[in-house]
Amino acid sequence: MVNAVKRVLVFDSGVGGLSVLDAIATSGAQLQLDYLADNAWLPYGLKSDAQLRERVPALLSRVNEDWAPDLIVVACNTASTIALEAVRAALPVPIVGVVPPIKPAAALTRTGVIGLLATPATVQRPYTNELIAQFAAGKRVIRLGSAALVEAAERKLAGAPESEVAQAAAQACSELFGAPGGAEIDVVALACTHFPLLARQLAAAAPRPCVWLDSGEAIARRVRQLLIAPRGRPQLRQAAFTDAAAMRPAFPAFQGRGFADFQSVGPAPYFSTAPTDF
Ligand code: DGL
Repeated sequence: MVNAVKRVLVFDSGVGGLSVLDAIATSGAQLQLDYLADNAWLPYGLKSDAQLRERVPALLSRVNEDWAPDLIVVACNTASTIALEAVRAALPVPIVGVVPPIKPAAALTRTGVIGLLATPATVQRPYTNELIAQFAAGKRVIRLGSAALVEAAERKLAGAPESEVAQAAAQACSELFGAPGGAEIDVVALACTHFPLLARQLAAAAPRPCVWLDSGEAIARRVRQLLIAPRGRPQLRQAAFTDAAAMRPAFPAFQGRGFADFQSVGPAPYFSTAPTDF
């Protein structure tokens, strides 16, 4: 008997989860991929812990009922570092979260100085402090929380001019590498899934060559292991948004990845999904 192709829901506040979706899609696993963005609430990095702990499980529970995925990837560091337990408690499916790549960054640095780029929420979370204490003790970690970079990634995928995106990357790099000790940074941990979408602009704006680390490949490996996915091609299915109208300019970025079916997710507390025309 042939098993049905397993279905994975990739979730983020906005387009950032596409960096993780790309890693899963290119991992050579035969999977069906759906996407959900809570863009009505973007950016998560400026929301309170309590707001996220309540909203993320509620939204995922509702969409889980409609789509019945075999696994959900919370492709958002800001949600993963605060709401993963609540999501796991609320949902009957396996949940994979994103962990800031502090451990591989600590293993790779030669200067002993790591840059940590994340949202304003993630940089100061106890979860992040614990990761640093556990895996990067003895290293210097220079943190920068940037909501502007999240916005730049959203704008980039919505078709903003290269110069605008490059300027946001230059500003972030000047703050990170210009911080005390920042000139010694040789590895940067990208602890927000939006930021790999700006990898080229960030690398171009950095004052020295660095290793830019993200969690995409590790997540893709974990998904394949958990689902025991056979080798094959990904099938891109549905992409849903809590504010589909606002996401419209970025639809071509989703279509370019193979999505053709766009859905609206209605407002809380119902979060019902409905087709949206494009
Ligand atoms: N992509 C998200 C993350 O990985 C957060 C962006 C935001 O909504 O602030 O942290």
